[in-house]
Amino acid sequence: MTLDLAGRGVVVTGAGRGIGAAYAKAFVAAGARVVVNDLDAGAATAVAESLGDNTFAVAGDASSEDGVAALVQSARQHLGEIDVYCANAGVARGGTEAVAQKAWDVSWNVNVMAHVRAAKLLVPGWLERGSGTFVATVSAAGLLSIPGAAPYAVTKHAAYAFAEWLSMTYGDKGIRVHAVCPQGVRTDMLWSSGTAGRALMEPDAVDPDDVARDLFTAMEEERFLVLPHPEVATMYARRASDPDRWLAGMRRMAGALPAVTMGTD
Ligand SMILES: NC(=O)c1ccc[n+]([C@@H]2O[C@H](COP(=O)([O-])OP(=O)(O)OC[C@H]3O[C@@H](n4cnc5c(N)ncnc54)[C@H](O)[C@@H]3O)[C@@H](O)[C@H]2O)c1
Repeated sequence: MTLDLAGRGVVVTGAGRGIGAAYAKAFVAAGARVVVNDLDAGAATAVAESLGDNTFAVAGDASSEDGVAALVQSARQHLGEIDVYCANAGVARGGTEAVAQKAWDVSWNVNVMAHVRAAKLLVPGWLERGSGTFVATVSAAGLLSIPGAAPYAVTKHAAYAFAEWLSMTYGDKGIRVHAVCPQGVRTDMLWSSGTAGRALMEPDAVDPDDVARDLFTAMEEERFLVLPHPEVATMYARRASDPDRWLAGMRRMAGALPAVTMGTD
């Protein structure tokens, strides 16, 4: 299928930098009109201004029930229809089962419930029109887990599960869903992931623009799973076919890593 995004209305959450900013740039280049959301108002405005007239900065929390409602309402005012919604904002919290409750709360809200709350507002209109695209920026950690970061590993699995669920439920009714699952991407999230995170992800990290390009290829091919690191597919298959062997490998990898110092609150 040839992608025709000219004039389409797109929302990208967490687009003040990193992967979200790269998505916004790619959608604008394809002729779409883009709402650039971020918690950081200055960052959202700077990205929107750098991308020209077809962008609108809408600052705010893209995770809480009120925040998502305000974002969708404001986006509809700017765009009319929302054709594509990229639930991209995410937080990386490290730690074990003992990490502070607020690390779990923010992880569930931003990494999972943000997606559920947006879908709740968007799906009815998309079903009526028979079209709509939901992009979930998940992570390879949603397919393969990650040592040292229980809140991130668990909530990214949930985000992946929700994207799958949306696709299996509405995929034959015109709603396209894409789950983007990179390993390391050169953004502030990677730079602040501590010694262990950097040791794990930096060597094979890709650029945010590579992730956007792979998303666009997947949209063209109407493919659910977007893997900027294709080797993730092999590891995912191994995990499914021999869980004990895979867990032994993960334990070896965790043992070889320095202590995780990713944000824990
Ligand atoms: N960088 C990586 O290595 C990597 C790898 C796999 C997946 N991801 C995922 O990609 C997505 C984007 O990550 P990134 O690397 O660009 O991160 P980043 O930290 O560089 O940028 C994330 C942006 O989201 C914003 N944000 C955070 N919470 C928000 C909220 N509640 N509402 C609105 N905006 C909010 C932040 O202000 C920030 O500008 C995340 O979901 C992340 O988990 C990143």
